[in-house]
Amino acid sequence: MADQELDAFPFPLQPDEFGTSFRQHQRRRAECPLGEVALPSGDAAHLVVAYEDVARVLRDRRFSRNLRYPGAPRMVREADMNDNPDAIINHDPPEHGRFRQVIQGAFSPSREARWRPIVQGIVDGLLDQVAAAGPPSDLVADFAGVLPISVMCALVGVPATDWQLFHDWTAVFFAVDPAALEERLRANREFLAYIRAFLEQRRKEPGEDLVDLLVAARDTDGKLSEGELVQLVSALLIGGQENTASSLARGVLALLRFPDQWAALCAEPGLTGPAVEEVLRFEVPSEGAFLRVTTEEVALSAGAVAAGRAVQVSVPAANRDPGVFPDPERFDIHRTANPHLTFGLGAHFCPGAPLARLELALALRGLADRFPGLRPAIAPDEVRYGEGNLIHPLLSLPVTW
Ligand code: HEM
Repeated sequence: MADQELDAFPFPLQPDEFGTSFRQHQRRRAECPLGEVALPSGDAAHLVVAYEDVARVLRDRRFSRNLRYPGAPRMVREADMNDNPDAIINHDPPEHGRFRQVIQGAFSPSREARWRPIVQGIVDGLLDQVAAAGPPSDLVADFAGVLPISVMCALVGVPATDWQLFHDWTAVFFAVDPAALEERLRANREFLAYIRAFLEQRRKEPGEDLVDLLVAARDTDGKLSEGELVQLVSALLIGGQENTASSLARGVLALLRFPDQWAALCAEPGLTGPAVEEVLRFEVPSEGAFLRVTTEEVALSAGAVAAGRAVQVSVPAANRDPGVFPDPERFDIHRTANPHLTFGLGAHFCPGAPLARLELALALRGLADRFPGLRPAIAPDEVRYGEGNLIHPLLSLPVTW
């Protein structure tokens, strides 16, 4: 791609409509399926948009998550989250397997069964408050923005009253604006100090939460260093939050923008699972996965990628690839096959996927059962999305019923 065109595509792409970049994705799919984008650091990366290629990048070990060598491509100039040697997401197999072993214990099916009543209780409590306050309500401030962080606080074991702190820190972590550097450093310092103090206290008074399993993996089994333990607790609190909140808020808006879909969900509880999958396919609030770098030349369907190149996949583009999803721009909760890539693939496949699916299912069902007359209180195209960060969350969702 010519420099001029590369300059025209700074990353993250700015959303065109309803917080998605689907027009830019369509154009790139047709004109430059392996074209470059300019990362906020100034480095160039291929932006991969075809489903087959996105799946390959996520699965193939030659697309590495180790960006910690001199001269490696960077997302941002300083305080890049890709630099952290203790973070699970920054490791490749086989080393990465050690982290996954620990996390798999924490996310076993028997633990998942224990989560359902906890999540249901939090959904019911929040919807009771929405109902009691009466219309209108801002479903971001009153529901979608609070649910995932409240769930993570309850499961990890941190006090629920601290959710606002995590919420604010997370917003800063996803900022890529160079002007946000000081903010990022400050938030990171405060967040890590909080986690360290919390771990200290749990060692004195252990409980039966996720954090206690992770502490045991460190203290009893020696599977983690102290830095890795701190980062894993942080990854759960951060990873579990903004993505789920954004998918939920954006998903509710998608359902309300297409009233036939909302009516179908209200009438048929059996559609809850397929509706969750369609929301996940259609409403990815970012490009969906972390930057990779090639360890050797690799051939993709869109062309060859040389060794040492930065590669950014676009999950939302893959999720609307017409070769895989018939009529991909249509939001349709009756879809039967829905192999979206929203939770990634391969070694880093999201360990929180079952929990996120549970939260989305109980939240959508709760809304549909209790507020079947739900509708936007402003024109859907007046809804605003956060810009300039890696994630484009819905800023507010005024509704009435
Ligand atoms: C709708 C909600 C969610 C979405 C869309 C999502 C998406 C993803 C994706 C795409 C990845 C892989 C990234 C890559 O390969 O570059 C990932 C990894 C991860 N997610 Fe999620 N996630 C969600 C919810 C959660 C929840 C609820 C948790 C925690 C309870 C969580 C914790 C993690 C962690 C720790 C990783 C790193 C795994 C590894 O490196 O092996 N996520 N997530």
